[in-house]
Amino acid sequence: MKNKKGKTIMVTSSKGGVGKTIFLLNLAGVLAKKDQKILLVDCDLVGGAIALNLDLVAEKNIFHVFEDLANRRYQNYESYIIPYHKNIDVISSCKDPRQALKIDMEYIVSFLEEMKNYYDMILIDTTHGLTKDNILLLDKMDIILYVMTNDLMDIKNTKAFMDVMNTIEKDNIKIILNNSRDIGLNYFSKYDIRSIVGRNIDYSIDPSLYIKNITSFLLEGEIFTLNKSLTFKDKNDLRKLENMADDLIKE
Ligand SMILES: Nc1ncnc2c1ncn2[C@@H]1O[C@H](COP(=O)(O)OP(=O)(O)OP(=O)(O)O)[C@@H](O)[C@H]1O
Ligand SMILES: [Mg+2]
Repeated sequence: MKNKKGKTIMVTSSKGGVGKTIFLLNLAGVLAKKDQKILLVDCDLVGGAIALNLDLVAEKNIFHVFEDLANRRYQNYESYIIPYHKNIDVISSCKDPRQALKIDMEYIVSFLEEMKNYYDMILIDTTHGLTKDNILLLDKMDIILYVMTNDLMDIKNTKAFMDVMNTIEKDNIKIILNNSRDIGLNYFSKYDIRSIVGRNIDYSIDPSLYIKNITSFLLEGEIFTLNKSLTFKDKNDLRKLENMADDLIKE
């Protein structure tokens, strides 16, 4: 399956807990149903929870990718992969936070670049904020999906984040207003947010995508958007996410 021309897509935010990981998994589910070959890479090195969310056990993880590359022992990407779905593979975050401190992200960036040969989309989960690792990823990834909520502190942090992005002339960022994280959090209109942040909101996720029984999905290691018993109403709610997926495929 070599010779794809995949894209690296980083999901990040200024604030923790805004729904990045759930959003990334739901997007992966929608893309997988469109027959895109997806690699999920957990670059939230200390707090990463993709494997936990998907109930996967990893023998090797992102630390081993780094360690083997740095020590010239790296042979084949497949040995770091956990298969999850016919179109979704996963590389898990570190098991031990001490491993996270040792990783030199430059090695991971070149590994992600290589993965473009094998996958249509490489979806990269990260921690929040402008950490050293995130800055390096921001610089090198093809597309940045920035997740925010309708919360005053988050909006102010987003302005500060976007000011930095303007300074470095980054224009491959899409802002996603996540209205599905907390229903009822709608004090500011999209227009208000745009005037504070100084950039357009590219996509919003409807409150109707608030998943009431999210714990049962997490316990089952299931991706909501891949659930076979979704009702027509649920499918209707997914339309915006599908439009976003179509745009990403076209980019
Ligand atoms: N669509 C949703 N429906 C219901 N609850 C949600 C949804 N998205 C997020 N949540 C709630 O918010 C919590 C945090 O979500 P998530 O882990 O995706 O955020 P995050 O931005 O990745 O957090 P972190 O900064 O810790 O990585 C979830 O455990 C869940 O309780
Ligand atoms: Mg997360």
